[in-house]
Amino acid sequence: MIELYLDSADIERIARLNERIPLRGITTNPSILAQSGLFLNQVLREVSAIIGADARFHAQIVSQTIDEMVDEAKQLNELPYDLVVKVPATETGLSAIKMIKAEGISVLATAIYSAQQGFLAAMCGADYLAPYVNRIETAGVDGIGVVADLQLLLDRNGLECKILAASFKNTRQVLEVMKLGIGAITLPVDIAEQMMTHPAVQPAVDQFSRDWTAAYGGKLSYER
Ligand code: E4P
Repeated sequence: MIELYLDSADIERIARLNERIPLRGITTNPSILAQSGLFLNQVLREVSAIIGADARFHAQIVSQTIDEMVDEAKQLNELPYDLVVKVPATETGLSAIKMIKAEGISVLATAIYSAQQGFLAAMCGADYLAPYVNRIETAGVDGIGVVADLQLLLDRNGLECKILAASFKNTRQVLEVMKLGIGAITLPVDIAEQMMTHPAVQPAVDQFSRDWTAAYGGKLSYER
């Protein structure tokens, strides 16, 4: 089954969504953490208490050089969580990914804007790839097509690396990439909320209630 993540560090909304849908964990990036005003350690601790000890976290390094990236990845890997280190798939990042993987650390290659770039990250050993669907589309390119090409390249080459699709601005984008058979997806909280609702749902449920009450009053379904 596809792994479902929230792309968020909003503790209250993560807790609310966790009551409603099966979350594998959360993903963050430096912008998300900066917006939350929280440090990574606090988010890991609080979300772990909400989702449980088996929650998986994808947390991004902030270092700029290869050596610093590798050191930061090692430090993150020491934390007592199921944590995948997010490394931007820049030229520097690809070098770092090769070295981090040599240390046996799980890696998600992030900031992927083309199938070619993502495929190179997979060849470097990344366990997950995060193509930015909406950002690709905002740049005038078919984001769904990029994910489809990337999944095809992974399949053709027998790479077990999972696509963790990211960056969504509407539920259609989510549906289209899930139809491609990707292994994981991370959703902004508002998009996850939109997926649970439809304007016709509550009227349908209200009609069931009216019909039942008109026929059987306050009785429950199993009563005579
Ligand atoms: C995931 O790795 C990215 O941090 C994130 O999904 C980008 O999403 P955005 O385009 O909504 O900022």
